[in-house]
Amino acid sequence: MNTLVKIRKIREQFDVNPIFAYKLAVSVGDKNLIEDVKKLLQEKPKPFVKWVGGKRQLLAQFRLMNLYPPEKFNPVKNTYFEPFVGGGAVFFDLLPQNAVLSDMNKELVTTYNVIKNDVEALIKSLKKHKHSKEYFLKIRAKNPDKLSDMQVASRFIYLNRTAFNGMYRVNSSGGFNVPFGKYDNPMICDEVNLRRVSDALKKVTIKHQDYKEVLKKAKKGDFIYFDPPYYPISKTASFTAYTKDVFLDKEQIELRDTFVELHKRGCFVMLSNSDADFINEIYSGIKGVRISKVEAGRAINSKASGRGKIKEVLVTNY
Ligand SMILES: C[S@@+](CC[C@H](N)C(=O)[O-])C[C@H]1O[C@@H](n2cnc3c(N)ncnc32)[C@H](O)[C@@H]1O
Repeated sequence: MNTLVKIRKIREQFDVNPIFAYKLAVSVGDKNLIEDVKKLLQEKPKPFVKWVGGKRQLLAQFRLMNLYPPEKFNPVKNTYFEPFVGGGAVFFDLLPQNAVLSDMNKELVTTYNVIKNDVEALIKSLKKHKHSKEYFLKIRAKNPDKLSDMQVASRFIYLNRTAFNGMYRVNSSGGFNVPFGKYDNPMICDEVNLRRVSDALKKVTIKHQDYKEVLKKAKKGDFIYFDPPYYPISKTASFTAYTKDVFLDKEQIELRDTFVELHKRGCFVMLSNSDADFINEIYSGIKGVRISKVEAGRAINSKASGRGKIKEVLVTNY
């Protein structure tokens, strides 16, 4: 069976993107194709943090709309950039051969790098954590600037697994301030997945830097996915505290300008944001750029009444 036939068979049976389907097709034989693929899919690494704004549930929709991944993006020759990586839902969905991930959240980036370079020591450290409110408050009170990278990563994953709603939120001076989550038995150390993530990151570059840095590196044919802090739909609905810096009108316009520059350069660019009038305005009327609407079920608001379908936009230049 040639690779294209295999890809077709895989995609008929499983809901996978064409880039990962190619990877699967070249790593399985003809004989037990479906069984082997099933096994590989079970072994696929997943995001290791819960992150508000995680894109996992939207990816199938993007694919059905033929917006993701860009058909002409060549993952063998070109590079995938995810400069607001957060939990990295899109990276873990694609698992591209060449990737550059970045974020302004320093602890998050440190954690990615510790998983990449020193996963066994991290697993050991995670296994030592205790699950109680008193212990949680003690760990939360530590200043990450005074910890080693290993301690930062261990604390970061521990807090992510045990804090209320798995949220990450910092106050204006950068201190983590989410309350204790009252989970009965949170999975603090998912060692199987952490090892898979570590393998997946081996050839990936992960940097603590502002998204504008991609401009210096991205070349024609590269694929860039922007998933910035969303523009608030209403004054009370804003949730942008991933870092101590704000991301409002001025920052959204600068991001639009970066999008346009990459578009002119011949990159494939995809951007998510809320369906706010302001966002629709700043991306309309640009030649070659289109705005599509998608429905997202998000749970940012802790009150049940605040959870529901929220419209988002997906802006693409292909
Ligand atoms: C909506 S989240 C991304 C969610 C991610 N796609 C996921 O699946 O989990 C936005 C991210 O942008 C990061 N961020 C905020 N300002 C930034 C900046 N100027 N440059 C790069 N990253 C930034 C935040 O730390 C946060 O992780």
